[in-house]
Amino acid sequence: MKKLLHPVTITLLVVTIIFSLPFFITKKTTVLNDAQLRDRALSTTFKPVPKSYDALLKVVDNPENPMSKEKIALGKALFNDTLLSDDKTVSCASCHKLEEGGDDNLPTAIGVRGQPNPSHLNSPTVLNAALAKAQFWDGRAKDVEEQAGGPIQAPFEMHMTPQDVEKRLNAHPEYVAEFKNVFNENNITFEQVRKAIGAYERTLLTRGDYDRFLEGDDAAISPQAKRGMTLFLTQGCKGCHAGMSVGGQSIQKFPLRSYLAEYIGLWFEPDIRLKKSPYPFINEGGFLGKDQNQKFRVPILRNVTKTAPYFHNGAVDKLEEVVRIMSKYQLGNEFTPEQIDDVVAFLKTIEGDVVEYDIK
Ligand code: HEC
Ligand code: HEC
Repeated sequence: MKKLLHPVTITLLVVTIIFSLPFFITKKTTVLNDAQLRDRALSTTFKPVPKSYDALLKVVDNPENPMSKEKIALGKALFNDTLLSDDKTVSCASCHKLEEGGDDNLPTAIGVRGQPNPSHLNSPTVLNAALAKAQFWDGRAKDVEEQAGGPIQAPFEMHMTPQDVEKRLNAHPEYVAEFKNVFNENNITFEQVRKAIGAYERTLLTRGDYDRFLEGDDAAISPQAKRGMTLFLTQGCKGCHAGMSVGGQSIQKFPLRSYLAEYIGLWFEPDIRLKKSPYPFINEGGFLGKDQNQKFRVPILRNVTKTAPYFHNGAVDKLEEVVRIMSKYQLGNEFTPEQIDDVVAFLKTIEGDVVEYDIK
């Protein structure tokens, strides 16, 4: 008996009880009916993508670069034209394929002469990017107009100077006429190129079953997707992946939480193989985000089911694994396999088609 009450035994007992407590506290899962779920989404930051061009303009038009039918058509032509790359082999559409989720489905982007992105960065989707508050993985460009100047000049993407671009386009009479019609100036400038492409990108919005559900169609998404959406809204995903684009509105730390076991290398920790990296995956390219501080522009989740592989360096192939990592490292509440499947079913409903706006 004396031995049993030894301070070491007691300490051990107390420690064991404290550490096993989380296993006994059953997690409360919220159940919402359809109307409550919709209200929950609409009363926070979520909204359906507009169906009409007039409604679109209210959401995305840029007073510094007003949209017009002609400007959008010109931007579309430029977006698809390899003339904007030095060896005339790469266009914006090479890395941002609209029919494939707006990205290239490669771990890292490949530019002119087969060059990979030096930081091993993954191409994000251009679809719905105009809805984001900042562009790029570290949020360094303020809008799509500013962003468009980046890839054209990056040596590993399109490798042109603004002067090269102006010279090339000014040598094409059709482009000269179209630019004149849109901007009413005699010479094509790099700024006009950025603006035309930006105006086109502002029309690249998608709608899916999720939008129809938000608009009132209860049958648009399955019961499983509704469970996943409930988790998304009640467990904390919505705090970061917010707004009409379901992401893109803020810059956030990743990972938010770290686990001691990963540092001391306990054998039962499944993520241990990753610990040479500051992330829960091997970080090829060494990118550390904004201020070298693991801060990222939160990715847009519309069409995420079509944009594998995932994370800034395309390190993870499976969306289920991404959701597990997010729940564990961003929420501190690792989801069960069933919960992960529910969330993936929800994410599938925000996949959608590019809206064919009746552009006037
Ligand atoms: C070689 C492949 C490649 C080409 C060509 C390319 N991009 Fe990208 N794009 C990327 C990569 C990689 C990133 C992320 C880079 C970063 O964050 O530093 C990106 C980021 C973007 C973003 C930001 C999206 C977001 O959510 O942050 C937009 C918008 C975009 N590109 C549009 C364009 C346009 C317009 C063009 C043509 C002028 C273009 N891209 C050409 C690979 C490419
Ligand atoms: C604290 C903010 C935060 C929270 C909470 C959060 N995320 Fe994320 N999420 C991020 C950031 C930042 C990234 C990008 C990390 C990177 O690429 O290195 C990301 C990436 C993702 C990606 C990969 C996107 C892509 O295109 O590569 C998915 C999918 C995702 N999150 C889903 C979720 C889900 C589901 C939840 C809830 C379980 C969640 N996130 C919670 C900030 C957050």
